[in-house]
This record gives sequence, structure tokens and C-alpha cells, in this order.
Amino acid sequence: MQAEQTGLTLTQHIRLEQKAHASATGEFSGLLNEILVAGKVISREVNTAGLKAEMVLGVTDNVNVHGEKVQKLDEYSNNTIIHLLQRCGYLAIMGSEENDEPITIPEKYGKGKYVLLLDPLDGSSNIDVNVSIGTIFSIYKKISSGESGATEDLLQPGNRQVAAGYILYGSSTVFIYTAGNGVHGFTFDPSVGEFLLSHPNIKIPQKGGIYSVNEGNYNLWSNGQKKYVEYLREIDKATGRPYKARYVGSMVADLHRTLLKGGIFMYPADKSSPEGKLRLGYECAPMAFIVEQAGGKASTGKQRAMDVIPAKLHQRIPLYIGSKEDVEMAEKFLAEDL
Ligand code: AHG
Ligand code: MN
Ligand code: MN
Repeated sequence: MQAEQTGLTLTQHIRLEQKAHASATGEFSGLLNEILVAGKVISREVNTAGLKAEMVLGVTDNVNVHGEKVQKLDEYSNNTIIHLLQRCGYLAIMGSEENDEPITIPEKYGKGKYVLLLDPLDGSSNIDVNVSIGTIFSIYKKISSGESGATEDLLQPGNRQVAAGYILYGSSTVFIYTAGNGVHGFTFDPSVGEFLLSHPNIKIPQKGGIYSVNEGNYNLWSNGQKKYVEYLREIDKATGRPYKARYVGSMVADLHRTLLKGGIFMYPADKSSPEGKLRLGYECAPMAFIVEQAGGKASTGKQRAMDVIPAKLHQRIPLYIGSKEDVEMAEKFLAEDL
């Protein structure tokens, strides 16, 4: 019998990626591998959630810094990643959507030179209904002088990211990441317990045919935003309109589709959220890094999303992200609002 040609595992890919850097010490690979383990644990929990609904589904008694009710699976994912990553020795400090304040690393575990920002579980409103959810992460190098890291380490602009990625718990579990050398995707094979390379060097189409936005907010939008969506709905064969509308309500799922098929995902500022809804550090910046590395574009409508300097850990920005030509068209319409 011939040996099976097993594809590159994620662990191998990360190691080869790191090997390309002369100054590599192995810490970066180590860190990504720890995130990978957390992803496997959360993936198992998400996949069997319905079987232990009482314990895993529904809301906790807690409300997070954003005023949102914390779901049991949000809390589980957050605790899982934090406990695992605090022990890894590669991190100086962490920030998470579910923690008001920066998360420190206990002395006994030792500290490293990296900084991690997390959305432990994205798409909370879809947890209980078996719709795709995910985990988003963003990695920086520590810039503060002390060993323990400081808030300034968590407030770096997206253009300083060393790596970013997401794990999508969908019809299959996929791990997508960039370390600044293209975007690579891996699919989890539960029978061997490994992520295997399934989407090498992902490139986003320059122009798509799908738009993704919560249109329920239409009456809260600016004129430019309304006009842009109306434009996408007009019939014009030559420019591929009308676009299709697709909105899952989990950024990870909407972004994954946008990355593979092209088009635009947006969460605009509106009258009830004048700064937008999505958080810069652990939602917008990592997704912007991934989409730019795939040849796309990410904007606040006015400027490159990765150039925004965060003023606070849980800062929000408006986001327009996806195919380059689509994002540029959105920016043109939004210029009317200025
Ligand atoms: P989270 O579950 O991490 O709080 O993020 C939810 C975000 C994002 O996943 C999604 O794109 C957006 O909120 C959906 O918001 P609306 O329900 O307002 O459309
Ligand atoms: Mn989120
Ligand atoms: Mn979340």
C-alpha cells in the first residue's frame, strides 16, 4: 500500500515561516502553536455545545465592558485562552474583549516579548443557534521598557502587527493566519486532530459581487452610506450590479466569505453608534492585516484601518473591508458626508 501524502500541518507551516527569519528564536512559532491548542479546545466545546446545553449555552449573569450580556461560551473561550496563554512564557501582556483591563502574566510562568489581543469568541448572537462563530487574534511585539508589558503595548496601530489570524468554527473548523508573508488557511481534520493546509496563499478578488452589512440599521445611517448601498442594489450588468446581500452577523464568518469570494463587509458608524460597533484592536486591525495581505483593503471610510492609533483598549471604529475596488467605491460615497 502506498503511503498517504498528508498535507503540510499548521505546526510545520508555522515552523517553516519562522525559519525564513534569520533572527528567529522559536518563540513566535511557540506562541502560534499555543493559540492553535486553544483553538482546538474551543472547537471541541463549540461542536458539542448542544449536548450540554445547560452548561454551555445561554447567558451568564455578567455584563462586559461593552454593556453586552456575556454568553457562557464567551466566558469559557476567554478563560480557556487566557489560562493556556498565560502559561506559555512568550507573552508580556494580553488584552481581551471580555476583560475591561489588560491581562497580566503571573510571575511564576515567566514573561516573553510578545503581546496578544483577543476576541475569544466572535458572533455571540449566533452561539445558541448553531451558526458559525470564531476566535480572532492579533500579535505585536512589546514596546514598553519593563518586563511586564504596559497598556501602551496594547495600543499600537495595526500596521505594527507581527501576525494575526482567526479560527472559524463553521461547517468545518478553519485556521487562517498571516505573519506578513501572505495569508494561509488550514482545515481541521478531527480524525487526526490536526489542521492541514487547505488554502495556501489566499488572494481576494479585486472586485466582488457581494455586500455584507446589517441593513436593519439603514435609517440610522449617513446619507453617503445609504447611497452606497442603494448603488449596490441598482441594476447595471456592466458593473455586476445588483450585488448579492449576505450577512451572517459573525464577523469571522462574514469576513471568511469576503476573503474567499470577494466583495465588501462593512460595519458603519451610525446614529446610535457614532464610532461604529467593531473593536479596533481585536476585530478590525487583525482582519485588516489579513485582508491587506491577501491583496484587499480595509478602511474606516476615511483612512486605512491599520493606521488608526488606538486611544484605548476597547476602541471602536467604522469598518469597510474586502475587495480593493469595492472598498474604494465605498470611500467615494462616504466622502459625500464630509
Ligand atoms: P462579539 O460577538 O465578539 O461581541 O462580536 C459581534 C460583532 C461581530 O461579530 C458582528 O459582525 C457584529 O457584532 C454583528 O453586529 P449586529 O448584530 O449589530 O449586526
Ligand atoms: Mn467580535
Ligand atoms: Mn467576542
